[in-house]
Amino acid sequence: MARLCEGRVAIVTGAARGVGRQHALGLARHGARVVINDIGAELDGSEGDASAAHQVADEIRAAGGEAVVNGDDVSSWEGARSMVDQALEAFGRLDVLVNNAGILRDRMLVNMTEDEWDAVIAVHLKGTFAPSRHAAAHWRQLSKETGEKVNARIINTTSTSGIYGNVGQTNYGAAKAGIAAFTIIAARELGRLGVTVNAISPTAYTRMTEGLREYSPDDIEIRDPRWVSPTVVYLASAQAGDITGRVIQAGNGRVAVCEGWRRGAEVDQLEDPEQLGPQIRTMIAQARKNSGMDGLELD
Ligand SMILES: NC(=O)c1ccc[n+]([C@@H]2O[C@H](COP(=O)([O-])OP(=O)(O)OC[C@H]3O[C@@H](n4cnc5c(N)ncnc54)[C@H](O)[C@@H]3O)[C@@H](O)[C@H]2O)c1
Repeated sequence: MARLCEGRVAIVTGAARGVGRQHALGLARHGARVVINDIGAELDGSEGDASAAHQVADEIRAAGGEAVVNGDDVSSWEGARSMVDQALEAFGRLDVLVNNAGILRDRMLVNMTEDEWDAVIAVHLKGTFAPSRHAAAHWRQLSKETGEKVNARIINTTSTSGIYGNVGQTNYGAAKAGIAAFTIIAARELGRLGVTVNAISPTAYTRMTEGLREYSPDDIEIRDPRWVSPTVVYLASAQAGDITGRVIQAGNGRVAVCEGWRRGAEVDQLEDPEQLGPQIRTMIAQARKNSGMDGLELD
């Protein structure tokens, strides 16, 4: 088997379980040395069991790979810095950052508490920004010192909830839509350094989704989180330097490229809202409708 990430060093956040665990195992199978970041949180972000991260690292070592465990909180500025420092200290370099850690605190908007909003925005949105910011500063420094572009990667994790919209998840969906926007903007900023920034939108059977409905054994197999990781491994590889600013859906039997917002019908601006109203209606009637949760079906 050709090893796509030979010699590369990757941080995977939230790598103790679910989708992140498979990213870490997949990257290690393809030759990467991996920092397994995880605080061992419960699904809602509260304190849980931190031992699972060590099991992933042990599994990688048992298969002949290299891994270290990092227990920092992705939403902590200093924690994110120390995660990047740990990769550099342990392995002497950093090539790939996979921002995957996540929590859920679903609630209808009218009942959502401030804590439920803040916790989800912190782990997903700040938890993507903070590690990316410290990794990007390292890559900029390296590029300055060598006079060459790096061949580095940030791979974020968005969700159909954010890019298409899911009821009961204004906090989570807003964070995930923010991550998709962050991906596009960071890709434009970091391209000159040789850093690509992409996002995946996974569909997988994990503790995050297991309670949503009944799943047959076939449903569970097709949604095994291991199906999400090949996309991440390819994007992480040195070969994928020309793919940036993209969102790719993976899991549940399909891999798909997501297409972003587009400007639709337009008219000249008008001062009178009464005149403008009918024109807005005509434009909306002409425009494509927002997609449903499958990304295709029109509302
Ligand atoms: N499972 C799906 O179908 C699905 C769909 C869309 C998006 N996602 C996203 O994929 C990612 C992984 O989800 P999963 O389904 O594997 O969930 P999971 O709950 O199995 O794993 C999430 C991991 O993140 C860790 N974590 C939580 N807060 C953290 C913090 N502050 N710092 C470090 N680690 C932290 C947890 O301990 C856990 O190990 C998340 O970003 C999630 O929003 C999953």
